[in-house]
Amino acid sequence: MNKFKATVKAPANIAFIKYWGKTDEKTRVPQNNSISMCLSDLYSVCTIEFSSEFREDKIDFLNEKVVKPREIERIAGVLDRVRSLANKSLKARVLTKNNFPKATGIASSASGLSAVTFAGCHAFGLRLNKVELSKLARLASGTASRSIPDGFVEWKKGTNESNSYAVQIFPLHHWKIADVVAIVTHKMKKVSSTDGHKLAATSPFYQSRLNGMEAKIKKIKRAIKKRDFPKFGQIIEGETLNMHAICLTSTPSIIYWSPATIEIMKKVQGWRENGEVESYFTIDAGPTVHCICQEKDAKKLASELKRIVGVEKVVINRPAVGARTVDKHLF
Ligand code: PMV
Repeated sequence: MNKFKATVKAPANIAFIKYWGKTDEKTRVPQNNSISMCLSDLYSVCTIEFSSEFREDKIDFLNEKVVKPREIERIAGVLDRVRSLANKSLKARVLTKNNFPKATGIASSASGLSAVTFAGCHAFGLRLNKVELSKLARLASGTASRSIPDGFVEWKKGTNESNSYAVQIFPLHHWKIADVVAIVTHKMKKVSSTDGHKLAATSPFYQSRLNGMEAKIKKIKRAIKKRDFPKFGQIIEGETLNMHAICLTSTPSIIYWSPATIEIMKKVQGWRENGEVESYFTIDAGPTVHCICQEKDAKKLASELKRIVGVEKVVINRPAVGARTVDKHLF
């Protein structure tokens, strides 16, 4: 009997400079470079086994009631890509779990699909380097490319499928900052980011966003390098409002925020202005707010956030390692 099995744990990541819009739908080559950080306490674990005993692929999610056909299709796509690389046709059993709610503005596709991609390759003994893995993960989900390297990461847009991938720009111990995530709903969002990317170009402001990108990327890299927190914070808040301005002015318009999202944004700015706690918000495609602070302020910020009506859960994250193989299988 032929049997190949591996398990990978992969982090979610938060984008400081966002990926919004693609130049190519199928290969997920983005319109702009993006900058992110891998998160220590929001992650997915995936076990894959390929075996000659299996008649068909079986894909399951642990502890999840709603699984969309699109999610299954994306994982099936990864299996096909991995089988073709390994030149094998064995069927697979896949079990994935997330330690956080899906599709609420935490990059579940990033952690989930980078874990599936890496586990599939490892199971077959394909020892790809990080660049190759990042490219392969990108084909499943753009942001998954950024969950492969450790720490602070840049996804270089490239010009085509073979030169668009993510690399580490600073190691995880470079800067002691935290992402205090305020989850405001466990309901899945109505417009997926896949659909959102397609609408970006309908915004009259999209070209102006792209025109300013190169300078913005340079500035944020300099701020991270110098550990200039106020400068960094100013850039990430501005970037969030810029990306969401594109969403709001797309046709049809997308409003990812809920009332609690706006309440948190105002509170974060208020705490900063009155000197209570220095934090800056960033928001991906959902209502969840990521409040970035210096490590020393993380606990205080978390307890303030918990007091806001509508905040269901708060998770403190530090910069983390990227996707890793682990010994403990899920089945
Ligand atoms: O989930 P994806 O890979 O289709 O893209 C989501 C993009 C944002 O989360 C909104 C921004 C980013 O760069 O993570």
